[in-house]
Amino acid sequence: MSSTKIQVRGQPLPRVPARNHRMIINSVVRGVSTKRHHCVSNVLSCKSGPSLDFVPTRTNESQVLRGDSNGRFGRFGGMFVPETLMSRLRDLEDEFTFVLGDHKFQEELTTALRDYVGRETPLYFAERLTEHYKNLARTTVGRDGQTGGPEIYLKREDLSHCGSHKINNALAQAMIARRLGCSRVVAATGAGQHGVATAAACAKLSLECTVFMGTNDIEKQASNVLSMKLLGAQVISVEGTFKDASSEAIRNWVENLYSTYYLSGTVVGPHPCPIMVREFQSMIGKETRRQANQLWGGKPDVLVACVGSGSNALGLFHEFVGDKDVRLVGVEAAGLGLDSGKHSATLAVGDIGVYHGAMSYLLQDDQGQILIPHSVGVGLEYPGVGPEISFLKETGRAEFHTATDQEAVQACMLLSRLEGIIPALEASHALAFLDKLVPTLCDGAKVVVNCSGRGDKDLETLIQRGILPSSK
Ligand SMILES: Cc1ncc(COP(=O)(O)O)c(C=O)c1O
Repeated sequence: MSSTKIQVRGQPLPRVPARNHRMIINSVVRGVSTKRHHCVSNVLSCKSGPSLDFVPTRTNESQVLRGDSNGRFGRFGGMFVPETLMSRLRDLEDEFTFVLGDHKFQEELTTALRDYVGRETPLYFAERLTEHYKNLARTTVGRDGQTGGPEIYLKREDLSHCGSHKINNALAQAMIARRLGCSRVVAATGAGQHGVATAAACAKLSLECTVFMGTNDIEKQASNVLSMKLLGAQVISVEGTFKDASSEAIRNWVENLYSTYYLSGTVVGPHPCPIMVREFQSMIGKETRRQANQLWGGKPDVLVACVGSGSNALGLFHEFVGDKDVRLVGVEAAGLGLDSGKHSATLAVGDIGVYHGAMSYLLQDDQGQILIPHSVGVGLEYPGVGPEISFLKETGRAEFHTATDQEAVQACMLLSRLEGIIPALEASHALAFLDKLVPTLCDGAKVVVNCSGRGDKDLETLIQRGILPSSK
């Protein structure tokens, strides 16, 4: 699978009055020069029609940082899809825009998030982890007698139904699928968390569910495969990893465009997918703001999240994008090291191209061929990131760092032993970065780490790495 390396020459699209967009969809063409193209559909369309004039807004926001109504974040995002998909994506955009303001939908979703998902998730003071870093400072930099150092809090998405943040979005989108009259949902999953969440949401809403998963991932995340099957989903094995499973799921959707809904699990893909997923994850940050205010009467100083494609990171960050005094820190997977070629550090070493329908940073070679990502956290193994994440990097609003497989595994063990919480290996990348972050922070600084999922699914991986004995 290759991507499209592109230089954008076009100017921003003109704003067009809302509600007419279907009629004039073909009238706006954005010029691009391509080196090579091979999107999932094998068709590159550089058209991006005008759109609704309503984009979900927030108080205090910088509109530029939050993207325009065509799903563009600066030069990132857009709709690089064949013409045949445009009308279905516009239907989706219409429905998404409608449900944002629809009282009945919002009430049903809020009730389900509370009673089914278990929201709000706690903002937990990790007292022993905080103490661990204080002790480390005392021994390594000789801060004897000092009680300072930052306080570390965990946003406990691991306590959500199905064990990760993925259910927030899966449930909301499954409700949209039903409204669009689709009886069937397709999805792709890497770590299996999105697959399980989608299977659960489909069971609840009586939708047929098919989940595509890479052969390697099926082996590594066997417990999630069993859960998906128990929840009534059909799991289809695809040669390769998550990116291959994604391509296959999208192909399947394209073949059954009106009966089937493609339920994207993260903030990638053509507009409106990235904005929609971000919106359905944004309660993570909203709850954090409220909880921080209750706990210490202020905002967090630093937010930390792992970055696979970016949905848990944006879920936490989005609410705070306009708060310049809040540091946003994303942590990518450095795998076996950035020089090893075996990592998923797209922002650290990737460059810009088009893949799966949008422009963003990608891991690709000089020919635009997509490189195979690697991480011990299977959910981080995607060769791209969401366009909004790319934009946060480019504008400097968020900073991005990396953690290796080994550092993530150590962080997983540390949290398990100190707090009795087994984090997913994906979330462990965010936790691992605390080693570097904490010594740079002032006393009393409040750090919130998104604990995006629980680690039960990773026990087999830890056994294989010799961290845990086999129970056999
Ligand atoms: C627990 C957990 N955290 C993080 C991720 C990475 O995805 P994203 O960057 O979209 O949050 C995954 C993906 O499967 C996951 O399962």
